[in-house]
Amino acid sequence: MAKEILTVKELVKRYKELIALDHFGMSVREGEIFGLLGPNGSGKTTAINCILSLLEYDKGDIKIFGKEMSPKAYDIKKDIGVVPQDIAVYESLSVYENIDFFCGLYIRDKETRKKYVQEAIDFVALNDFVKFRPKKLSGGLKRRLNIACGIAHKPKLIFFDEPTVAVDPQSRNKILEGIEELRKGGATIVYTSHYMEEVEQLCDRVLIIDKGTTIAEGTIDELKGMIKKSEIITIEASGVDEKTITSIKEKSTVYNVEYDGRVLKVEAGSGKHNVIDIVNILQEGGYRMKKIFSEQPTLNDVFLELTGKQLRDE
Ligand SMILES: Nc1ncnc2c1ncn2[C@@H]1O[C@H](COP(=O)(O)OP(=O)(O)OP(=O)(O)O)[C@@H](O)[C@H]1O
Ligand SMILES: [Mg+2]
Repeated sequence: MAKEILTVKELVKRYKELIALDHFGMSVREGEIFGLLGPNGSGKTTAINCILSLLEYDKGDIKIFGKEMSPKAYDIKKDIGVVPQDIAVYESLSVYENIDFFCGLYIRDKETRKKYVQEAIDFVALNDFVKFRPKKLSGGLKRRLNIACGIAHKPKLIFFDEPTVAVDPQSRNKILEGIEELRKGGATIVYTSHYMEEVEQLCDRVLIIDKGTTIAEGTIDELKGMIKKSEIITIEASGVDEKTITSIKEKSTVYNVEYDGRVLKVEAGSGKHNVIDIVNILQEGGYRMKKIFSEQPTLNDVFLELTGKQLRDE
C-alpha cells in the first residue's frame, strides 16, 4: 500500500460556540487524488486551514510527510501547494509578477525560478495575459492565475479548495485535466468540492464530511458498497396493474417501487438478476416495455443514506 503522506487525527476546531470540526480525521496516500466532499458549511475549508497551520485549532494531531505540522515548519511548507477557495492574488501585481512572487517564497535560485514561473504560465495557458493585472481577467482566467500561484514551486502535496466554483465549463474542464496532469507528474492532490459528479470523475478515494465529522472514507466503489441501494432500474411500460407491481415488490432484493402509470422505478439491493427478473415479471403480465435501463447509485445516494439529507439543496 502507498505510504501515507498526510494524517489527521481527532481534529477539533471551535469558532466560539460553533464546533466546526468535531474529532475529524483523514488520511491521504502518496500519489492519489483525494476528494473531500461535503455540503456548504460542513467544514472543508476549516479542515484545510487547520491542516496548513493557517488557523489555530483546539485539539488534534496533524502529520505531513511523516512529520508534525506547525506554523513554522518551513521544511514541510515548501513542498505544499495551496489553491485557496477565495482567490488570493495581489491586485497591484501583473499575472507574471504574481506567479513570480509566490514561487519566490520557496525558490531562491533565479534561473530555476524563471523556468518554474514560465512552466506555471504554460500549464494554465495564461501566456497571452502575463502583463495583465488580475482585475482585467475574467473569472475563469483569475482562477487559473490562482492555480498557477499555488503550484509554480512544484509542490509534492497540493490542496485545491473548490477550484471550479463559478467557473465556465471550458475552464472547469481545463482545471480538472490540469489536476490529472499534476498527479501524473507525481504530486498528491487533496481536492474539496460539493459537486459529487466532479469528485466521482476525478478522485481515487473520497472522504464524506458532514457537520465537521468524517461520515465515510474510501474508494468510490467502497462508499457505494456501504449503502443498501445498489441499483436503480427504470422501465417504461404503460398500464401495469397492482398485482404485477406487488410481485415486483415481493422480490427479495427490491425495497422500493414507484410507478406513475407509465414509468416504473425500482430501487434494489445487490442481486445478479434484478433487471432480468423484473423484465420477466412484466413479460409474464403481457406488458410491452420501451426503454429499460439500470443505474448505479451516486455519491448523493451514499450521502443521503448515511446522513438522511441531500448533499445539495435541490
Ligand atoms: N471565521 C469564522 N468564524 C465563525 N464561523 C466560521 C468561520 N469560518 C467558518 N465558520 C463556520 O464554520 C462552519 C464550517 O465552515 P467552512 O467554511 O469550513 O465550510 P466549507 O465546508 O468549506 O463550506 P463551503 O462549501 O461553503 O466552502 C460553517 O458553519 C461556517 O459558518
Ligand atoms: Mg469552503
